[in-house]
Amino acid sequence: DKGNHRHFMAKEIHEQPEVVGRTLAHYVDLAAGRVVLPEPLPFDFARLSRLSITACGTAYYAGLVARYWFEQIARLPVEIDVASEARYREAPLERDGLTLVISQSGETADTLASMRYAKSQGQHTLSVVNVPTSTIARESSVVMPTLAGPEIGVASTKAFSCQLTVLLCLAIAAGRARGTIDAAEERRLVDALITVPGLMAEALTREGEIEILAREVSKARDVLYLGRGTSYPMALEGALKLKEISYIHAEGYAAGELKHGPIALIDESVPVIVIAPHDAVFEKTVSNMQEVAARGGRIVLIGDSKGAAEHGLDTLATVTMPDLDATVAPIVYAVPIQLVAYHTAVFMGKDVDQPRNLAKSVTVE
Ligand code: M6R
Repeated sequence: DKGNHRHFMAKEIHEQPEVVGRTLAHYVDLAAGRVVLPEPLPFDFARLSRLSITACGTAYYAGLVARYWFEQIARLPVEIDVASEARYREAPLERDGLTLVISQSGETADTLASMRYAKSQGQHTLSVVNVPTSTIARESSVVMPTLAGPEIGVASTKAFSCQLTVLLCLAIAAGRARGTIDAAEERRLVDALITVPGLMAEALTREGEIEILAREVSKARDVLYLGRGTSYPMALEGALKLKEISYIHAEGYAAGELKHGPIALIDESVPVIVIAPHDAVFEKTVSNMQEVAARGGRIVLIGDSKGAAEHGLDTLATVTMPDLDATVAPIVYAVPIQLVAYHTAVFMGKDVDQPRNLAKSVTVE
């Protein structure tokens, strides 16, 4: 049932404040300002020397965001690879180490195979899955569910923001176990997490302006997405979402990589979507925006009012997100990124819920 929405994808984008709130309530003790995991862990974060993450597609990008969180909050080194590579790389994995797999369906063949490989190496496996009865959920040593509810649209939206929510809670739990954050810092992070559903609702109010912007995007043959820090995987996710449902060629790049190649593509025909909350690396991203502007590139900034006031460049459009704690930015910024792809594809008359050549669940390799 699509409710009042034209597509499942629209419904699922709009459900995010609710399902992220529900997921949070499952992982956070609001009164105590602490993360409380729903399942006991069969391993100790404090004893891990590293964490291996594996997943496919959008779930992989959630893992890439989580790498920053686990490394910064828990000082836990992370190695991450797409599951189709991880399963055949024969990477040495430490016995009693931890492999974390992320999957909406819990049935993705490569993700399942890489989890089985980790198991065969004597690793613990922790799955972040949306379907609790799935094969990955059943075969992993411990399951941390996302409570997104059934996701029908082929383009993953609410499952992604719920994955990010669970992964940030896990990084906080790891930080506490490893003694890299104290109770005050944990409370600060939990307080930031609690603001997320409201901030996502606010982000959804930008839909009208994004719809207008989407008409410009729909004229492009190529679109470049740039970001730094956790906004880098968000750039990858933005590009994937756009290409999946609008069939416009899109690439996501770490903003600092611009000079190492993709800058050759920049001209007035290529919109450059820059994802840049006013965080610790914002100024660095502005210098990349200057490089784009100097070559006639048309910038779309997904940022905040502080950043918009500072950069001083002409933009094609600015999508202003609410002020927030930079740690939680990826969860909130998922909303405008999804809306850009959605409205571009709808404007172009594409079937956003059933894009060509794609299946919701990739159960064969
Ligand atoms: O069910 P999974 O999360 O394991 O699926 C992984 C990918 O197939 C999936 O995220 C895919 O990239 C989506 N169509 C992205 O929107």
